[in-house]
Amino acid sequence: MKKKKIEKEYNEKIKKLVKFNKFYYEHNNPLIDDRDYDNFKKDILDLENKYSYLKNRNSPSLIVGFKPSKNFKKVSHKVPMLSLANAFDKEDLVNFEKKIMNYLNQKIPFEIEYSAEPKIDGISASLSYKDGNLVTGLSRGDGKEGEDITQNLKTIDDIPHSILSKDFPEEIDIRGEIFIQNNDFKKLINKFANPRNAASGSLRQKNPLETKKIPLKFIAYTFGFEKGMKISKQSDFLIKLKEWGFKTNPLNKTLKGIQNLMKNYKEIENKRGSLDFDIDGIVYKINDFKLQKRLGNVANAPRWAVAHKFSANNGVSKIENIEIQIGRTGALTPVAKIKPINIGGVTVSNATLHNEEEIIRKDIRIGDTVLIERAGDVIPHVISVDLKLRDTKSKKFIFPLDCPSCGSKTIKEYNSLTKKQDAVRRCTSDGFECEKISIEKIKHFVSKEAFNIDGLGKKIVENFWKLNLIRLPQDIFKLDYTKVENLDGWGKQSVSNLKYSINLKKTITFEKFIFALGIRHIGLENAKLISKNLVSIKNFVSLSKTKKFDDLINIDGIGDTQINSIKNFFSNKTNLKMLNDLSRLVKVKDAVLLKDDGLLSNKSFMFTGKLTGISRAEAKSLIEDNSGSIVSNVSKKLDYLVVGEKPTKRKIDLANDLKIKILSQSEWLKMLNETS
Ligand code: IVH
Repeated sequence: MKKKKIEKEYNEKIKKLVKFNKFYYEHNNPLIDDRDYDNFKKDILDLENKYSYLKNRNSPSLIVGFKPSKNFKKVSHKVPMLSLANAFDKEDLVNFEKKIMNYLNQKIPFEIEYSAEPKIDGISASLSYKDGNLVTGLSRGDGKEGEDITQNLKTIDDIPHSILSKDFPEEIDIRGEIFIQNNDFKKLINKFANPRNAASGSLRQKNPLETKKIPLKFIAYTFGFEKGMKISKQSDFLIKLKEWGFKTNPLNKTLKGIQNLMKNYKEIENKRGSLDFDIDGIVYKINDFKLQKRLGNVANAPRWAVAHKFSANNGVSKIENIEIQIGRTGALTPVAKIKPINIGGVTVSNATLHNEEEIIRKDIRIGDTVLIERAGDVIPHVISVDLKLRDTKSKKFIFPLDCPSCGSKTIKEYNSLTKKQDAVRRCTSDGFECEKISIEKIKHFVSKEAFNIDGLGKKIVENFWKLNLIRLPQDIFKLDYTKVENLDGWGKQSVSNLKYSINLKKTITFEKFIFALGIRHIGLENAKLISKNLVSIKNFVSLSKTKKFDDLINIDGIGDTQINSIKNFFSNKTNLKMLNDLSRLVKVKDAVLLKDDGLLSNKSFMFTGKLTGISRAEAKSLIEDNSGSIVSNVSKKLDYLVVGEKPTKRKIDLANDLKIKILSQSEWLKMLNETS
């Protein structure tokens, strides 16, 4: 009985997979995103591994790609075009390496060298050269048989038709990726859903002249059949490819050690958004061809290579509601409450809609099915609406004209710089009169860059506000702890912790104090500039009495916008009371003016490893207060490398090589004591 059920589940999954493949490879129109596809495929493979009676001829372990289309002649690949196994995290990489080590059963331990190559998300092609001439160009097809698209491939500038180099093998299939650059894709208005589909679609045009119209690129990275090639390493092969006239990926690297693979992966993932071509991971290949040969293939993928995939960054969901959030500066931001979805391992349930115009431009409505993007640290947002799935009864969203929190009128300000009306609508209340703005102002006041009060998170601020325990920022320092202790979820210990962290932050630097006030247009940088100019809170408070606001224009970096905003701040009674109360309740340290003749002047420092009893930020300011500077890598320009706990060995080795002085934390602190 159980067996029947498992077989049924398996067959249903296979049926679905065949459909996904058909849409992906034949119609260039994927039904699900890559990550879901990979997961789906993995489920099937897991089932097969568990129940060996399951394998069928449609198994994903046997099929690669899809049957070639009928438009082109089918030609067999002399050496099959394989697929790659996927890895998603460090653990997968560790296992990949372990398996290789076990397989090789090497007596003497050695470090495997890899060629790490960004995986371009395009269409692979195989170019057969004979005596230096391009004879046939095939698409991948099902891995065994491809489509003869020679004429189309020949229209691509990056593909050489003949190669004269003496060391070019007598016969070789050069394989690589056909793709379209993002900026070129943008010019192809709306014809294709993404660059990959555009490349695929244009490669499969019946008429090569149609292909020629689209600026396709080709990057080479491997070979199939070969006769007369005398190269022993992938990295050397990549160098040769370039010499022969092919383009290779400039981000290719040769690396050893999982740690370094991870570092490279992260660096490239961070660069991903700024590259002009789509990549979906890094391919690691064992560099040594002899080792590759020994390892061979499993099913349809080589044992010597793996694709370390980046997390997919979008998904489809439904908008359940649209809410208006009110920010610290009164901005009304529409937020879509969506049916929670997992995007790249993170559950997303909110997506910003930015502003009223964005809703109108994209015609976003409650109930719509939308494509959501979550990439890096950017707040998830709606990319587009699937109009086909829209409910016929759906109504346009009406953006409120009054503040949903306090009922004040809202306006769109005129921006004198852009000479346009702002896209953002704002509440016109005087800040603390609006509940939502007040709460946001208090959250800002306690935030990391401002008073940095541990234990006063966003939820607690909201709760304390609701319970009338705090209404203005200064109330934090007058908190009624006995009341807090009686609240649900609080006890003696947690209250004592809170009291401790609040008291700890009663002393603050002048610049952080200015920033904490949350004056519009006065961010950290501007707060720093003003604090250096005015030096003390006394001078700041007296700005309102002396009316010397306009003198601030002498500060490099401060302009009319900032000055008007400061004037505005001082014209409000609640703000004046806040300043007055705070100057009694907290101690604001005068700004320390940096001298360039401090005793660490002309000396540069770098830290590696964890410091004890002092944060990196504090260590940095200690150095800067004494006119020293911080550098971010070990080079000849570095004077001292300060070593904490668990330092990076590579940095120490490099410093030793460059004869840079290495200090322990205590030696460094001693140096400060002697000099300050
Ligand atoms: S090597 C046997 N190298 O990834 C090794 N493939 O799933 C297979 N790809 O079909 C090819 N960049 O379309 C290799 N530097 C690279 C690659 C790469 C992208 C694609 C290629 C292949 C797929 C494997």
